[in-house]
Amino acid sequence: MSATHSHDSSSRQAWTPESWRSFPIRQVPDYPDAAALRAVEERLRRYPPLVFAGEARRLKASLAAASQGRAFVLQGGACAESFSEFTADIVRDTFRVLLQMAVVLTFGAKVPVVKIGRMAGQYAKPRSSGTETIGGVSLPSYRGDIINGADFTPEARIPDPARMETGYFQSAGVMNLLRAFAGGGYANLQEVHRWNLGFVERSPLAERYGVLAERIDETLAFMAACGVTGATTRQMDETEFYTSHEALLLPYEQALTRVDSTSGEWYDCSAHFVWIGDRTRQPDGAHVEFLRGVRNPIGIKVGPTTTIEDLERLLDILNPRDEAGRISLISRMGAEGVGKHLPPLLRKVVASGRTVTWLCDPMHGNTISTDNKIKTRSFEAILAEIRGFFDVFQAENAHPGGVHIEMTGQNVTECVGGAHRLTEADLGERYETFCDPRLNAEQSLEMAFLLSEELTARLRGSAAKGTEAA
Ligand code: PEP
Ligand code: CO
Repeated sequence: MSATHSHDSSSRQAWTPESWRSFPIRQVPDYPDAAALRAVEERLRRYPPLVFAGEARRLKASLAAASQGRAFVLQGGACAESFSEFTADIVRDTFRVLLQMAVVLTFGAKVPVVKIGRMAGQYAKPRSSGTETIGGVSLPSYRGDIINGADFTPEARIPDPARMETGYFQSAGVMNLLRAFAGGGYANLQEVHRWNLGFVERSPLAERYGVLAERIDETLAFMAACGVTGATTRQMDETEFYTSHEALLLPYEQALTRVDSTSGEWYDCSAHFVWIGDRTRQPDGAHVEFLRGVRNPIGIKVGPTTTIEDLERLLDILNPRDEAGRISLISRMGAEGVGKHLPPLLRKVVASGRTVTWLCDPMHGNTISTDNKIKTRSFEAILAEIRGFFDVFQAENAHPGGVHIEMTGQNVTECVGGAHRLTEADLGERYETFCDPRLNAEQSLEMAFLLSEELTARLRGSAAKGTEAA
């Protein structure tokens, strides 16, 4: 046990849902109307929780399995959900693509895929700069719909606490639909597979992706012949689907934090899983203090600037008893950086004997700006980072836990590349994101097919190595 460990555990005051308020905080909106803010917080504190502690515990157990290679995590959704996109179609399409990806990944990884949406609450955004300047005019930055408006006007950019209440009700609406889809027959495996066949048919790489689709087809036909169908087996007809977002807006997160009556412990009931972003992960900062006391499974973004010392302190503070499934480290190093920055951190965590689930976020280290100043990411760089991430784990003989991606079920044009060969010239077509560029439906599915191939090949490789060694 390191010296910092005992220092961190003993030097902190007792945690309360509001103990974060006496810690230095970054990325905090400046609400002009403090009384209005307090009134909203008070109302939110009395509203029903959006998730239950038991569900968060179940997810934690699945994440623990992923840390040992017994499950694979697929976390995905928008960079920023928006209030104006609060429609059944948008929720359904993202949910559907995630299910489609999960089937393909299950086949490749040969383990259950844990599905987590960046949905039903992903409304707050950290910003690199506090202001945005267009044509010589500077305004406060847009911080996500739960804080202020995206329109480039002084009025829209004023943080408005009423938006928190809207965020709560919209999260509840999305959550309700997700629960209905997950348990109401929409997630039927045969049906999801049929959608995948549609994708393969449309793809310029139909021949390549068809090989995998056919194998899944045969497997499902075989299972049906053996009597394993939606009618006989619950797992064929429904699925578990979890929600997540960045725990950035702490007044909101605090207001949704409740004592679980079963365990007597605190849970942030705004989502099953919440994470700390790359800009708010200071060990002595408010966001870390808040997440220290809630029992949800939590994520920590880990980037090129994360030091070994900070990472160790974060793990000491946030998971002092080394509970499996509690911490997911979400690596976002960039395709170029992953081979350099990740190994020392991974080695240290392995050597310290700590249990964490490692996820690869191949999006945030690969954002580029086009000549026309449009933010984009290339499909190839995204894929390269995931492959690089797998390589690092293979070299260290450790388990990669899964992936974390920004995607949508819509056919937007925000990332370049992929089989349909989107170019920078196409970006104007349907560039709809409120923040970072997302993989569209076809690009997301393509990514899943390629990763599935990759996982199968790596499993074969390690099986062959095992035989050699024996
Ligand atoms: C995000 O996930 O949208 C994000 C802002 O990521 P990061 O904190 O890793 O930059
Ligand atoms: Co983002």
